[in-house]
Amino acid sequence: MGKWGFFISIEGPEGSGKSTLTSGIHEHLVRMGFQVVYTREPGGTPPGEEIREILLAGSGNIDAMTEVFLFMAARRENVVRNILPGLREGKVVICDRYTDSTIAYQGYGRGLPIKLLRRLNKLATLGVKPDLTLVVDVDPQKGLERIRGKEFDRIEKEDLEFHLRVREGYNKIAKISGRRVKLLNGSQSPDELLNKAISLIIDKMSQKEKVRGGRR
Ligand code: TYD
Repeated sequence: MGKWGFFISIEGPEGSGKSTLTSGIHEHLVRMGFQVVYTREPGGTPPGEEIREILLAGSGNIDAMTEVFLFMAARRENVVRNILPGLREGKVVICDRYTDSTIAYQGYGRGLPIKLLRRLNKLATLGVKPDLTLVVDVDPQKGLERIRGKEFDRIEKEDLEFHLRVREGYNKIAKISGRRVKLLNGSQSPDELLNKAISLIIDKMSQKEKVRGGRR
């Protein structure tokens, strides 16, 4: 049987520099010779990208649970089409947002029961968990300020209180998720952030190799 891949998810509040970091990580790992699958949520597949449009367009109200089901539908498709096949082929899979976004935004942000969201995440992902999750932490006021030039999507338009709860949620997730989740300070320079992220990724990859080696 071939070697199982390595799964990284990247998370953070709005304007944390998460997307720049994700593309930096992608480029770096490709240069190091890894085969990389890059994907994002919501999105990453044709139906997922259509669901993304529904979720982020306009400012209209969507019932909170309807919103959850849409994120989950996009997630399931992404897991089945991109993430699992990539891991089976031994690739590094990078996902810009994954299950922790639902816990932070719909759980802490919207106040939906975390336990229920965890169960739905498990169903949607077939239990596929990241080996490593990097959360880029930023003060929401600064984050929203950073992206002020662009037109805000439906979720970015939520009030500051919502975004403060999301950040708090990520901090709690980092505390309770043990070694899977690493919190990164989003106020450092993009280069510093990337270096830190790469060293965490390489560390985690070699730890995983050791465990695998030990089991042989
Ligand atoms: P994002 O990935 O931040 O894209 P961009 O950087 O182009 O704005 O946008 C996705 C939005 O969806 C973001 O506001 C977070 C939100 N989201 C949830 O609320 N729940 C989820 O489960 C996921 C995956 C995203």
